[in-house]
Amino acid sequence: MELHGLLSYALFLLFIFVIAGEAVCANEQDQSMKKLNHHHRHTYGGFRPTKLFVFGDSYADTGNSPRSLASSWKAPYGVTFPGKPAGRYSDGRVLSDYVARFMGIKSPLPYKLRKYGPGKLRRGLNFAYGGTGVFDTGNLQPNMTTQIGFLQGLIKDKVYTKRDLKASLALVTVSGNDYAAYTSAGGSEQDLHSFITRVVEQMAIDMKLIHDMGIRRVVVTTLQPIGCLPKETVHSSYQQCNDTQNLASKFHNGLLQQVVTTLNDNTKDSSFLILDTFSGFNTVLNSNTVFTGKLKFGTPLKPCCVATRSGASCGSLDENGKELYTVCDEPKSAFFWDTVHPSQAGWRAVYLTLRSSLNGIYR
Ligand SMILES: *[C@@H]1O[C@H](CO)[C@@H](O)[C@H](O)[C@H]1NC(C)=O
Ligand SMILES: *[C@@H]1O[C@H](CO)[C@@H](O)[C@H](O)[C@H]1NC(C)=O
Repeated sequence: MELHGLLSYALFLLFIFVIAGEAVCANEQDQSMKKLNHHHRHTYGGFRPTKLFVFGDSYADTGNSPRSLASSWKAPYGVTFPGKPAGRYSDGRVLSDYVARFMGIKSPLPYKLRKYGPGKLRRGLNFAYGGTGVFDTGNLQPNMTTQIGFLQGLIKDKVYTKRDLKASLALVTVSGNDYAAYTSAGGSEQDLHSFITRVVEQMAIDMKLIHDMGIRRVVVTTLQPIGCLPKETVHSSYQQCNDTQNLASKFHNGLLQQVVTTLNDNTKDSSFLILDTFSGFNTVLNSNTVFTGKLKFGTPLKPCCVATRSGASCGSLDENGKELYTVCDEPKSAFFWDTVHPSQAGWRAVYLTLRSSLNGIYR
């Protein structure tokens, strides 16, 4: 009886903790969020990753892209966080920051800055470069194979040991730069499916390469609904997604599901996990309710930062240094920041829809 009473009390406390945790999270208090995630960790079994290695593009880049080329280093990028341009393609945090937060670690340093924080390498590194793909996309930045090679180099130099890698999670983002490059190179609509197949096959090769290095778990994002990006919806005054393009995302994601299943069938402990950003974007964009707190959009497909003349983009200046863009009053209430990237509020909302599936990394 006494044991029973104690157990009920413990369950009651747990219940209060979980409820309180959720409530505080909704208020974006990071400390409590960490505690909550910590709690999840203990609920979900064996693996406790302490390091995050990130491979991919602008959805995950936190400062690798060169200052001379990238809009991510120009105002008004970074205006919400850290308050000035710092190499993220958003007004603030991006997906990789939220995955690190989920793990209860600080966001890993960009690879480019590794020399400035030797003590900080313990939390992993971010090798993502904006504008890149699994293949070369014409922006002369490292493709995914090359990004993986950077980590292989560090392993060779004994910066990371086998044991480090065993305690590591990899995040892989492929958000459509291969397809943008294909289209601008005049790739045909008929051959698109076979090109998508090649991209996803290369993703499988890359994910296997990452796992073969000794990284215990590899998380890969699905392709977001590319027809809902402002660069497409601008043609309908941000009213409608392009369904043809969203079908391409679905085709990509169907193939991705297949290769991930195959990869898991061929490894011992289901090392590969899909993070369904496609559904995350759709859920948030279609939700009329304000389930994510501050997000509240009249025109959800309209970005916050908009160019004021054709040929310009968010961050462009004219020859006199005058801004060729406008920024919305409240970046916190916009899902998209620019023509292709979510705002920090957008990423946070997507992250909230993905949190429960992220528990899969602790299996
Ligand atoms: C990635 O880039 C390297 C170096 O430029 C190149 O040799 C390689 O073929 C590229 N890989 C793919 C899959 O396109
Ligand atoms: C949707 O995208 C397809 C393929 O890129 C394009 O051909 C078509 O014109 C677009 N439709 C609209 C309404 O913009």
